[in-house]
Amino acid sequence: MSSAFTSSNRPIQIIPSVLPADWANMGQCVKDLEEAGVDRIQFDVMDGNFVPNLTFGPEMISACRKYCNVPFETQLMVSQYNCETMLEAYVEASKGPNGEPGVVIAHVEANVHLHRILGKIRQLGGSPSVALNPHTPMEMVKDVLDMVDHVLVMTVNPGFGGQAYIPTMLNKIKSLREVIVENNYDIDIEVDGGIKADWTISQCCAAGANCFIAGSGMFAYPSLKEGCDALRSVAKDAQNGKLLEKS
Ligand code: DX5
Repeated sequence: MSSAFTSSNRPIQIIPSVLPADWANMGQCVKDLEEAGVDRIQFDVMDGNFVPNLTFGPEMISACRKYCNVPFETQLMVSQYNCETMLEAYVEASKGPNGEPGVVIAHVEANVHLHRILGKIRQLGGSPSVALNPHTPMEMVKDVLDMVDHVLVMTVNPGFGGQAYIPTMLNKIKSLREVIVENNYDIDIEVDGGIKADWTISQCCAAGANCFIAGSGMFAYPSLKEGCDALRSVAKDAQNGKLLEKS
């Protein structure tokens, strides 16, 4: 088994969630995040149905494209109806400045036709990803791992920023990374919710994650660059075996 697929040497990616940003100046915010050195920017789409909160649609995401060249990812915390009827608009809005595939994340819990949705994201020129809420077992995605570039393990119940990280998600990350390596899949594991530059990112990294979504955990710093650098350095240490224990 080539080492390219173990978590220890997958590139660490720091991905801010825009939930804590100043929404009246979202264009400037994505520009600031690019200057802070982030790897991708996550847009949390919430429809007040799949989650008890409401954010924005594809128009907001498209409007931000001209302000930076950083890749975008769109997490679809929306109903099946919204996902199926607006998928093309979400995929288009998430694309890079030259039409590169943007990451589009469909939730297992919202899509009874998940296989069809993931296939359609790829067909429309997006990079498919699948998300699991905390109660959803990893086994629910085993039969679509051949279709995705990423799996998102929620470490909070979706719908709000600033919530506490759920430590019991570590086993799910571990078993997911094992199945990915066993099958020689080239898949990133993302974690999202309560991730900070402390034992939370350190433990998730050691368990097999390599992409880290952070909202409050990045915006809490005096500058976005300090937040991004702090998250990246703790994750890199964990990849090199220097692990932080729960404090
Ligand atoms: C929650 C969102 C997360 C959230 C993360 O439903 O999916 O991306 O914004 O925020 P923090 O890092 O503050 O938990």
